[in-house]
Amino acid sequence: MRIDILTLFPDMFQGPFSESIIKRAVEQGSVEIVLHDIRDYSRDKHKQVDDYPFGGGAGMVMQIEPIAAVIEQLKSERSYDEIMYMSPDGQRLNQGIVNQLSLKDNMIILCGHYKGVDQRIRDHYITREISIGDYVLTGGELAAAVVVDSLVRLIPGVISDETSALSDSFQDNLLAPPVYTRPAEFNGWRVPDILLSGHQAKIDQWREDQALARTKKLRPDLLDEGEGEKG
Ligand code: ADE
Repeated sequence: MRIDILTLFPDMFQGPFSESIIKRAVEQGSVEIVLHDIRDYSRDKHKQVDDYPFGGGAGMVMQIEPIAAVIEQLKSERSYDEIMYMSPDGQRLNQGIVNQLSLKDNMIILCGHYKGVDQRIRDHYITREISIGDYVLTGGELAAAVVVDSLVRLIPGVISDETSALSDSFQDNLLAPPVYTRPAEFNGWRVPDILLSGHQAKIDQWREDQALARTKKLRPDLLDEGEGEKG
């Protein structure tokens, strides 16, 4: 999988992409993440990338030319399955969308800033708009990092225990059951006896029951969503 990220602030990705599982995924070649500074594509002598909105109003708008230039350049090099724009207006991210995206080969993620990008970019290039929740961030970078993190861990071989991604919360529209590790007792707080019983079938049943009970209690809305959400 190759992910091209178009941003005005490439350094914002240094933290999230240089640690732990994403770092390993990049090093082992499971994913290639290429950052493009949109400012490098500005033809303006001051490297300007934004301008006042037509019709007036507060805030600046990211101009069409530099963004179109990066996208055209990338599209001339390879084909893309998806050109995404991170925006609070977009489809709210969930595990089903992440599952779909994890099957793509090449994708572009455009991060907006200020008042957003010129609408013509959205109309003519963007294939999917994604929001990570109903709140407004200062820009699309943190949202893009969330998308990349959630989908890279689904690429086969990225998480060493292959089954662990499948037993995540949300993978079956259920929250994950509680987990425990040693010591079996701390401050008098005991791990449930069933987990120490060695009886695998009973343990599996207990976990299923717990997942369902937790979902009913904490996120009953997930149980109404049905199969369509799983992607
Ligand atoms: N950009 C600003 N806010 C955002 C959000 N909630 N999701 C995705 N991109 C954003």
